[in-house]
Amino acid sequence: METVVSGIRSTGNLHLGNYYGAIQNFVKMQHEYNCYFFIADLHSLTTHPTPADLHGNVKQVLVEYLAAGIDPEKATIYIQSDVPEVAELYLYLNMNAYLGELERATSFKDKVRANPDNVNAGLLTYPVLMAADIIIHKATKVPVGKDQEQHLEMARTFGNRFNRLYKNDYFPEPYAFTFGENLVKIPGLDGKGKMGKSEGAGNAVYLSDTPEAIRKKVMRAVTDGGPTTENQTKPQEIQNLFDLMNVVSTPDTYAHFENLYNTMAIRYGDFKKQLAEDMIIATAPIRDRINDIANDADYLRKVAQLGADKARESARKTIKEVREIIGFKSF
Ligand code: TYM
Repeated sequence: METVVSGIRSTGNLHLGNYYGAIQNFVKMQHEYNCYFFIADLHSLTTHPTPADLHGNVKQVLVEYLAAGIDPEKATIYIQSDVPEVAELYLYLNMNAYLGELERATSFKDKVRANPDNVNAGLLTYPVLMAADIIIHKATKVPVGKDQEQHLEMARTFGNRFNRLYKNDYFPEPYAFTFGENLVKIPGLDGKGKMGKSEGAGNAVYLSDTPEAIRKKVMRAVTDGGPTTENQTKPQEIQNLFDLMNVVSTPDTYAHFENLYNTMAIRYGDFKKQLAEDMIIATAPIRDRINDIANDADYLRKVAQLGADKARESARKTIKEVREIIGFKSF
């Protein structure tokens, strides 16, 4: 059975981008593959969370994984820092990851631009840690959104480099995976780029948002003065709202508003109201379970323990082999 690995950084509540880009696929894949889904708390250290925030954010992602339908009996759900073997493999891979290629990573360049005062080494070697996450379980499929495509390419580079240096075909090649044709990129509500946690307040719709909060955010989303000719190409901010409707609404609803747009009869107020209601319906089953799960400390502890045990078993096996392959031997 093929092995699947993916993770989400514990940097705040999960949003529709995380859900449609990643978690929805986690839930489907758990029935067919040997799955490892983790909470990337080591990755979150690049932005220096306080201990209390770190712990709270890890719990939030764990709760939302479970609320979204990941089943701890089927998939291995674990916290990255519970598996120190990942950090060990990261160290080995770092020896063959080069400054030039790390500096060229798009996500690194974006982070440097956004926060020039915090260009730390952890940020630079972020793709190496991500490669370690994936290849420690010898995964071949990695369900992620479009923004992670380059990181997957780098994971293949680092795995292949290890293979060439030490042992041919040891690590299999991991590829970004989605059930559809293209990796998903869910836009935000600000009329610009993707939905994200750091893209500014109001841009992201969270799985834990109340219906009222969702309505407010959607009604405030950026629009224009309306179409001025029939069948015109939609400007970015309008296209983004249609893209969101495409994932949360029925095909009939989408076609209805598309037709209104193309005939210049669309009223953005109605369009946004429908979009908000469909987002509320789409997130309801998750939202409804979040509080109950969050209050069940015993259950969360059990899930984290079970996941840590299973993930460590797999990681230990790889690290034992890797140590031998590299040449660490006891006397
Ligand atoms: P992160 O925490 O930024 O995002 C988690 C997952 O959500 C997807 N995603 C999106 N998909 C579509 N549209 C969006 N607007 C959107 N926003 C986020 C991401 O593509 C991702 O799948 N580096 C990773 C975490 C990670 C990881 C790994 C993933 C660490 N190690 C190993 C896979 C395998 C990250 O920062 O994702």
